[in-house]
Amino acid sequence: MEEAHNKLLNQIQSFVPKTEQELEQFKTEYLGKKGIVQELLDSIKTLPPDQKRERGKVANILKEAVLEKYHFFKEKFKYEKQIHRPDDLTRPTATFVAGYHPITLVMNRIVDVFKHMGFSVAENVEIEDDWHNFSALNFPPDHPAREMQDTFFVNQEEGILLRTHTSSVQIRVMEKEKPPIRYVFPGRVYRNEAISARSHCFFHQIEGLYVDRHVSFADLKATLLHFARNIFSPDTQIRLRPSFFPFTEPSAEMDITCNLCHGQGCAFCKYTGWVEILGCGMVDPAVLRNCNIDPDEYSGYAFGLGVERIANLLFGVNDIRLFSQNDLRFLENFTAGNFIF
Ligand code: DAH
Repeated sequence: MEEAHNKLLNQIQSFVPKTEQELEQFKTEYLGKKGIVQELLDSIKTLPPDQKRERGKVANILKEAVLEKYHFFKEKFKYEKQIHRPDDLTRPTATFVAGYHPITLVMNRIVDVFKHMGFSVAENVEIEDDWHNFSALNFPPDHPAREMQDTFFVNQEEGILLRTHTSSVQIRVMEKEKPPIRYVFPGRVYRNEAISARSHCFFHQIEGLYVDRHVSFADLKATLLHFARNIFSPDTQIRLRPSFFPFTEPSAEMDITCNLCHGQGCAFCKYTGWVEILGCGMVDPAVLRNCNIDPDEYSGYAFGLGVERIANLLFGVNDIRLFSQNDLRFLENFTAGNFIF
């Protein structure tokens, strides 16, 4: 092929149209009635017979190259139009990452375990008032958790805030329902904390509440052991350490044997073999009274766990920021089929 024809072929092959209009112009420029390829074909008539064949071949090569380019971009533009079509919100998305977010996976899994034990599920507001988030839960007026450093206020004078825990839903439900009450409350909570690998300004909790006649600490312990063994491995051990929360008395924190090292000791459990996963206790009689439930007749237990913490343990993730960065390289690890509970 002659130098000039080679150059043409290169031009065709390296052409990248920005718009459909550019693509059509490109086609006409080469294949139109007065186009470059047509001119080559017309010129054949004037050539001596021994050069005719060669010129015909060249014209064909160029024509094929133009058509290939044309069809490729025609399809590309068609596809792009489809995926950007704004009027049909039910169309499947263009990316093929299908699956639940890891936090949703863990939440659903935990909620399922409690549903099997007879717990109902309820959700409630994230913008709360002081009464449901603090006062009814027996927080004294000067409790540090009420401070600006911990709580995001929407309107501090009126005591409107972003709930700092799902314990607020305990109050919402006990105000409305009579015992027996047996619920889990999954949801998002907010705290004014610096974002780091271990803490975030929003995260997820699941709260549990059981109020009835004769509910005891032994019930709480058995329920939590069953939960831990279902979520982690069947040989998981639990231990309850005395603690303090304004809304439970007595209160405890629960540790499980570290499921990453099975109690042997690793960096995650700081070589103790144990990791803390939740707070719990017997509902304080004052809290029951605040909701017009008679503490002489009824007792209850409550617990609250951090979903991100459980997800860290289940997936071996040690930076909770990954859960809210929407990085597909991270999220794709949890798409359907990649992760089996
Ligand atoms: N609300 C507590 C927190 O956010 C967790 C908690 C502790 C919930 C003890 C409870 C409980 O229901 O009994 O740290």
